[in-house]
Amino acid sequence: MSGPAPGEPARLVARVSRFGDATAMVLAREAIRPPRGNEVVVRVTHASLGSTDVLARCGGYVLHPSPGFIGGYDFVGELLTESAVSVALGLREGATVVGVLPGMGAHATFVTVAPTLLVALPDGMDPAAAAVLPLDGVTAAHALELARSPRRVLVQGAYGAVGSLAAQLALLDGLTVVGTASARTADRARALGIPAVDHTAPDWPDRVVEAAGGPVDAVIDHTGTDRVRDVLAPSGVVVRTAFTGRAGHERSDSLRGGLGAAGHRWERVCSAPLYVATRRNAYRRMLSGLLAAAASGELTTAEPRVHPFDQVWEAHRSAEAAEPGTKVVLAVG
Ligand SMILES: NC(=O)c1ccc[n+]([C@@H]2O[C@H](COP(=O)([O-])OP(=O)(O)OC[C@H]3O[C@@H](n4cnc5c(N)ncnc54)[C@H](OP(=O)(O)O)[C@@H]3O)[C@@H](O)[C@H]2O)c1
Repeated sequence: MSGPAPGEPARLVARVSRFGDATAMVLAREAIRPPRGNEVVVRVTHASLGSTDVLARCGGYVLHPSPGFIGGYDFVGELLTESAVSVALGLREGATVVGVLPGMGAHATFVTVAPTLLVALPDGMDPAAAAVLPLDGVTAAHALELARSPRRVLVQGAYGAVGSLAAQLALLDGLTVVGTASARTADRARALGIPAVDHTAPDWPDRVVEAAGGPVDAVIDHTGTDRVRDVLAPSGVVVRTAFTGRAGHERSDSLRGGLGAAGHRWERVCSAPLYVATRRNAYRRMLSGLLAAAASGELTTAEPRVHPFDQVWEAHRSAEAAEPGTKVVLAVG
């Protein structure tokens, strides 16, 4: 995209110029797209940088098969303009808002978006703390919806960014929850009240069934493994939030996993971007509820590790090596 014309309102964006390491990121100036219809402009103050952003930069993300895109799904910011729809939703100019985009593009100083993507930041909530939650929280909550009211659920990677939220939401719903976690994260998962089985043990499915008191009705899985079927009750469902895939083959393995899942009655694919794109009212209710639960302390969220936007390269390196229980947040504004 060409730079802004003289005098034209401009924004800074972090673009993936090619697939590769953190040096593939470029900061570029471009024109701010003027709002159309009821769209509004948000000055982004904070945007998370998580595992999906790193995967996409490396070329492993199925939704971005070519470089040249701006990373980032979720953000916190200030509403710079209002529209009839934003006002009807209670969002006026100057409000602090939180949102998830249906496609990447949040790693930018300004975004032009539909107001139906936005909810208000709860009073008193730290914006950097809020920025870690939207994408992972919506993924976790939607995965549980797709799990069709299970009594017993297995959450893979129970101290991962998505997994810890899914496991905590399931516990809050009164479900019997078992998680998998390696020795690296098991104690921290247990500290959240999530019984953890080591996924590196060869007999981990047997251990899950034992810990759950029987086969589970649902598995929330990001690995794509078929071994989850060994823990599943006959009418149970496996909700896939990802298909991690072999190193260097993540995109093709994801595609294969997704296509395979479409042919199985027991398997469902959870896509937060698709949910945001197609279930706008439900998404907004879900995001507001998640933020309220985090603000009240009911839900323990990742600790933000804040990096300045103009050091996006360091932020990407930090995200690649993120300490469990933390998430990188770009301080954009
Ligand atoms: N569907 C969506 O809309 C959506 C949205 C957001 C993210 N995602 C995707 O979901 C995946 C997870 O994201 P995340 O941010 O939660 O990642 P994360 O924070 O890195 O968590 C992944 C967890 O998986 C655990 N793990 C590693 N190998 C495992 C195995 N073989 N079996 C079970 N658990 C294992 C790790 O725990 P240990 O260290 O203890 O092994 C780690 O804590 C990524 O692929 C991401 O792109 C999808």
